[in-house]
Amino acid sequence: MRKRLSLLVCLLLSIVLCAGCSKEPEQSTEPSLLLGFSQIGSESAWRIGNTRDIEESADKNGISLMLENANQKQENQIAAIRRFIAYKVDVIAFSPIVEDGWDNVLEEAKTAGIPVVLVDRDISTEKEGLTACLIGADFYKEGYMAGEYLVRKADSLNLEHVNIVEITGTTNSTPMRQRQAGFMDAIAGDERMNVMESIDGDFLKSRGAENMRYLLETYGGEIDAVYSHNDEMTLGALPEIEKAGFIPGKDMIIISIDGGQEAIDVLKSGKINCVVECTPKLGNVLMETALKLKSGEAVEGVIHPEEQVFSDEMDTSKIAPRGY
Ligand code: AHR
Repeated sequence: MRKRLSLLVCLLLSIVLCAGCSKEPEQSTEPSLLLGFSQIGSESAWRIGNTRDIEESADKNGISLMLENANQKQENQIAAIRRFIAYKVDVIAFSPIVEDGWDNVLEEAKTAGIPVVLVDRDISTEKEGLTACLIGADFYKEGYMAGEYLVRKADSLNLEHVNIVEITGTTNSTPMRQRQAGFMDAIAGDERMNVMESIDGDFLKSRGAENMRYLLETYGGEIDAVYSHNDEMTLGALPEIEKAGFIPGKDMIIISIDGGQEAIDVLKSGKINCVVECTPKLGNVLMETALKLKSGEAVEGVIHPEEQVFSDEMDTSKIAPRGY
């Protein structure tokens, strides 16, 4: 009887021990990847929405994020990239404020074997293989859609001539160059269109206001249309137009780019005629791409999100909340 009892105890013990052996390994709480991201700054609601989206997407994907804000200075971005290299992050991502001047620091990242992803904006370089891919809007298409809208609007108002002022983004940045090129291509060949002046507003609300004041002093009521490269500058320009005694959206056609909530609300009120969307929600694709790069998988060279046009040609009450 005692023999049987000890056999039973042994059996139970080994079942318990074996259960311990076959237990699944505990899920590691270690982040799957360390990503260094250098953001341009906080110049617009778009940029703030983009930073938030990247932080939330990193969290959701279990990615550890080293985020540095360059406060609108290229030298701060270069220093941040050097810190990421010294820290041996798995992947570096950054939104280059301007296109030139990145070769040296990107050579350093390449030598360290760290893949680099461009987010939102592109660089200009003669060298091959400095970056793995670009995730960002098709800025040329945005500018083209803005120009197409203006041509349609001129048709619908039977305008014989359209005097345009352009408030551009930061000189030598990708959105500035491409939004300008796309717009000019779309209106080229239409003899009614006349760009009176293009002026750099650096994507800032204060510069949008300052430039609009100057443009109104210079051209006054001759201005038929304002093409502004982002919502922030548009929102800065509108009160100046009103102060000068004109009704934006009626006396002047107002075209903006980004599609943030504040600009969409103004579009609904009739003071902006058209807003071309530029989505800041690039975070998830960035995280997926970074994970692929870490595991040595191939990634697409250029990834553009789908974007649309919001305008007074549609029922604006149906536009869903924008989230930035
Ligand atoms: O690079 C994207 C542009 O930069 C957005 O249009 C603008 O609002 C931002 O600051």
